[in-house]
Amino acid sequence: MQLNPLAGVGVEVTDLDLRCLSTHQTQRLQQQFAEHGLLIFRDQALSELDHLALAKHWGEVNTNRFFQAHPEYPDIALVGKEPDQVTNIGGGWHTDHSYDEEPALGSILVARELPQQGGDTWFVSMYRAFEGLSKGLQSLLLDLRAVHSAKHVFGKSSSYMQAKVEAARLRKPELADALEDPIHPVVIRHPLSKKPALYVNPGFTLRFEGWTEAESKPLLDYLYEHAVQSEKIQRLSWKPGTVAFWDNRATWHYALNDYQGERRMMHRVTINGSKLTAY
Ligand code: SIN
Repeated sequence: MQLNPLAGVGVEVTDLDLRCLSTHQTQRLQQQFAEHGLLIFRDQALSELDHLALAKHWGEVNTNRFFQAHPEYPDIALVGKEPDQVTNIGGGWHTDHSYDEEPALGSILVARELPQQGGDTWFVSMYRAFEGLSKGLQSLLLDLRAVHSAKHVFGKSSSYMQAKVEAARLRKPELADALEDPIHPVVIRHPLSKKPALYVNPGFTLRFEGWTEAESKPLLDYLYEHAVQSEKIQRLSWKPGTVAFWDNRATWHYALNDYQGERRMMHRVTINGSKLTAY
């Protein structure tokens, strides 16, 4: 296999068939994943079962509670946008499942149907985001924890659930409303790499623990702006056969919504993670 490090974040892996990984190849991929937080594969031909088998090299599959499931493979979440839907799923910077007490390790996204143009996904590194801050701000953040929530995104009063056509691809908003909002360290010791990573995100973080939302907002906004400066963004243009595997504790991603009137259908398998600890 060839490994080509990407400028923003991650590694593009070529000359590899994900359907028949040797033990040695699996170990190399696990090592690359732990170090870089994003693997991009091209020209793959994964069936649904291959997709699930790939995930199991990293851990147990986390069945999505809020997205519609694949009709035959309930562990595969459908991340789709139909021609009559205006919003997409993941159309803002976020990391999946930070609203869980034990946030997911990562997600493997397989392109099944793509628009003629557009529909890229962007990624940024949370290692780089932390490293790029001043020592003064780093040391302030090391003492903070933050509250995360799914309610405003997947709960009954979220904008997705308010519009019938948009809500059709989601389910069980009552589960989002019932979830206790977890508190995570703002700087985590990454469970695999042991490096410090910034762990707040615009999608699901509400505020710093012990601070109001109004007090938290200016500092959170600063961190968000800092993390997504354009030279730090890794842009992924999907093609048939592209597979992306990101670490939710080391990256954020953003699904662009620039293909109105067309269908885009991705299959996502998410892998269980563990409770996060402070750096
Ligand atoms: C997601 O946020 O998981 C969706 C990413 C994408 O559809 O590109």
